[in-house]
Amino acid sequence: MPRPVSVTYRVWPIAAEVAAGAAELFASAAAAAAEAHGVARIAISGGSTPKVMFTLLADRSQPYFARVPWDKLHLFWVDERCVPPTDAESNYRMTNEALLSKVPLPAAQIHRMKGELDPAVAASQYEAVILEEFGLDRSGDPVFDLVLLGMGDDGHTASLFPHTAALYEMVRLVVANHVLQKETWRVTLTWPVINRGREVAFLIEGAAKTDVLHDVLLGAYDPEAKPSQLIRPASGKLTMLLDSAAAAKLPATGTDGVGTLELS
Ligand code: 6PG
Repeated sequence: MPRPVSVTYRVWPIAAEVAAGAAELFASAAAAAAEAHGVARIAISGGSTPKVMFTLLADRSQPYFARVPWDKLHLFWVDERCVPPTDAESNYRMTNEALLSKVPLPAAQIHRMKGELDPAVAASQYEAVILEEFGLDRSGDPVFDLVLLGMGDDGHTASLFPHTAALYEMVRLVVANHVLQKETWRVTLTWPVINRGREVAFLIEGAAKTDVLHDVLLGAYDPEAKPSQLIRPASGKLTMLLDSAAAAKLPATGTDGVGTLELS
């Protein structure tokens, strides 16, 4: 049975406000980690949802840029498509256009999954990068300071898609995952790595996610069909940043826009 987890979900009326909430979470987590242990290691997702958050982080007129300790930040990816970094499908390319090309984050602190390589080689190489950057040997357990996740309308997160082999990997840090539904390969962190994150947060927006979010949080436990249910952080806490559309079938929040769910 899964680890019990306390889910805190914050709901804003519109997506732009969710992005601001996510930028606030990113900046505060990065600053706290740098203060606590001299480095901030954050793993980000791709897709479309994070793009506005990245834009806000890069915008010097917003209150986030100045709070991010760029010199102490190491950026990792939760997953990547198996395409070159210049490809329109590349999570790196989207992040570079929205954020990396606009901020003083040293290139040596940007840890790109090399989607242009053979998937298995890219996964093995990325494991080595993680172990090196965390100063761990092969038996080590990396603990990201923050893991930012999205959720697909099929219940996937990272590149942990329903009924794919990566769902059963509990030892490796990073694997290549064949996604039959998309007739493609992906490189992804495995769910035990994600669950070790000091803070783990989903960023989910839009009416297309209403039903799947309800099913993941309140429906039957069936992680093969709904891999986002595998995300039960070791901290016992899970954060969800949502817009009203995505949260429409969740229990109403308080007047502060915050709701909690205890998942056993
Ligand atoms: C990816 C992401 C993936 C994403 C979800 C949600 O490579 O696509 O990492 O897990 O977070 O598919 O994507 P949207 O934000 O585009 O809905």
